[in-house]
Amino acid sequence: MRILVTGGAGYVGSHAVAWLTRRGHEVWAYDNLSRGHRAAVAADQLVIGDVLDMPKLLASFRELRIEAVMNFAALAPMGESVARPLAYYRTNISGVVSLLDAMVQAGVRRLVHSSTAALFGDPAVERIGEHLTRSPGISYRQSQSMAERIVQDAAAAYGLAVIALRYFNAAGACPSGDRGEDHRPETHLIPVALDVAMGKRPLMKIFGGDYPTADGSCVRDYVHVDDLAAAHALALAKTTETSAAGRFDAFDLGSGRGHSNLEVVESCRRVTGAAIPVRVVERRFGDPPRLVADPERARTELGWQPRYGELDSIVGTAWNWHRGRPNGFAE
Ligand code: UFG
Repeated sequence: MRILVTGGAGYVGSHAVAWLTRRGHEVWAYDNLSRGHRAAVAADQLVIGDVLDMPKLLASFRELRIEAVMNFAALAPMGESVARPLAYYRTNISGVVSLLDAMVQAGVRRLVHSSTAALFGDPAVERIGEHLTRSPGISYRQSQSMAERIVQDAAAAYGLAVIALRYFNAAGACPSGDRGEDHRPETHLIPVALDVAMGKRPLMKIFGGDYPTADGSCVRDYVHVDDLAAAHALALAKTTETSAAGRFDAFDLGSGRGHSNLEVVESCRRVTGAAIPVRVVERRFGDPPRLVADPERARTELGWQPRYGELDSIVGTAWNWHRGRPNGFAE
């Protein structure tokens, strides 16, 4: 299939581009490079453009004869969304409206949309299933929640086949070491811990030690970025089924296992052999204590089976990337 991947030069998007390309699809990354990296995709697979630029999207769909879209174009860190809500609403909501407008005009009928476990806020249950009511709270959460609502309504109104994939904590890197996580600034737990292991930061701050969890630190469900890419390919195949037109579906993508922040640091110590000193500090605003997926539906209905079962194996691929490319894509 000919696929346009918006946000395709970003962390998860670039892994999806590589994954789909290896499986014989014709794939282009569409990215404004505000957060994505030119070097994360092959030069002849990159279209530089903004999701807010509807005419450019439309022209790209027509020129490249696009048959399906994967949408990864969104602003992500939750903390930043509190300080810059308008940027988040613009990119994450207006961006998806512009994308759908262009899809409808160009007759592109299949969309796999990146959504997030953050929709759930603080669900206070062991494992999150798709049946739970979404609980918007801060700008990132609200904008992603609204974006999902928009793609759902568009599916019904315009006969599109749409699947939203709500993923939990994306982690790891492609095993070749060619691409991995490179956010600026980096705020995510595993890459920050690996920076400490490499001596780029003096110590690891753990945000909150008084959560109602076994060791007092937050619990998250880590899923390898290539397993996410694989799920996108499976979701794409599902959008080609005859019954898919006009349908919206959402799947949770996680391992179903939670790891506390302190356990993650311990895994980083095992993998790197470095001490990784830790200081437990104040809670970070907006962090729910526990987010763990129930991946059952993704397993049964998409046939998704994550290949990276153990946290250490996920961290191992991240370490391979960080050690091999200490300056990320900047080299
Ligand atoms: N954390 C620390 N110290 C750090 C960095 C993070 O203690 O230096 C903690 C956070 O407070 C949190 C946990 O590590 O408890 C995970 O934080 P991340 O920033 O790595 O990831 P989040 O869980 O906040 O968010 C990520 C994505 C979101 C997505 C969410 C879904 O960034 O886009 O996972 O769970 F919505």
